[in-house]
Amino acid sequence: MKIVFATNNLNKLKEIQQILPTSIELLSLKDIGFSGEIPEDHETLEENAFQKAQYIFDRYKISCFADDTGLEVESLNGAPGVYSARYAGDDCAAENNMKKLLSEMQGKANRRAAFKTVVAFVTDTEKCAFKGIAIGEILNEKHGDKGFGYDPIFKPEGYDVSYAEMSSLEKNKISHRGKAVRKFTDYISLMS
Ligand code: IMP
Repeated sequence: MKIVFATNNLNKLKEIQQILPTSIELLSLKDIGFSGEIPEDHETLEENAFQKAQYIFDRYKISCFADDTGLEVESLNGAPGVYSARYAGDDCAAENNMKKLLSEMQGKANRRAAFKTVVAFVTDTEKCAFKGIAIGEILNEKHGDKGFGYDPIFKPEGYDVSYAEMSSLEKNKISHRGKAVRKFTDYISLMS
């Protein structure tokens, strides 16, 4: 069974390859010859994930999944949430997003946060979504240099280290995307 993962993020491709059963052939956008930006302009993670998967499915007619992730911080009323990628401005680097978040969090006692992922799957016969949540807290400063995005400042609940101090295998076991993708892979394993 061939499935396209509609992402330009190579870190995510690598993470997901480790979780998918070998019966599934994972294709990247590069593998199918797509090199462009996929629109992502909705107000919720679920709508954005479906928009990306549908966009590629409509053009290539290959079953496709896409994910959308947001980091919701309790004391910032859920920000940056669906705007996590462009928190410090359009096309900004992860470094700038983390800097902005750390500055917004200065002096806040409540540092509880949650990463949320929605995986949307689109085929010629169905559309379904799978969700994963990881609760944790925003650290006072960056720790570790693995992973990507906000990893250095997110410490998952029950752990003494940040996501960026974990190997990708360790992170996958407990992460928001790991949980959503496992629900998705359980589902397609039954189908294939
Ligand atoms: P996207 O919707 O998956 O592209 O992610 C939105 C924002 O959250 C981007 O700034 C990503 O870098 C960040 N992000 C997504 N997944 C993770 C993760 O597993 N760890 C840290 N940051 C992430």
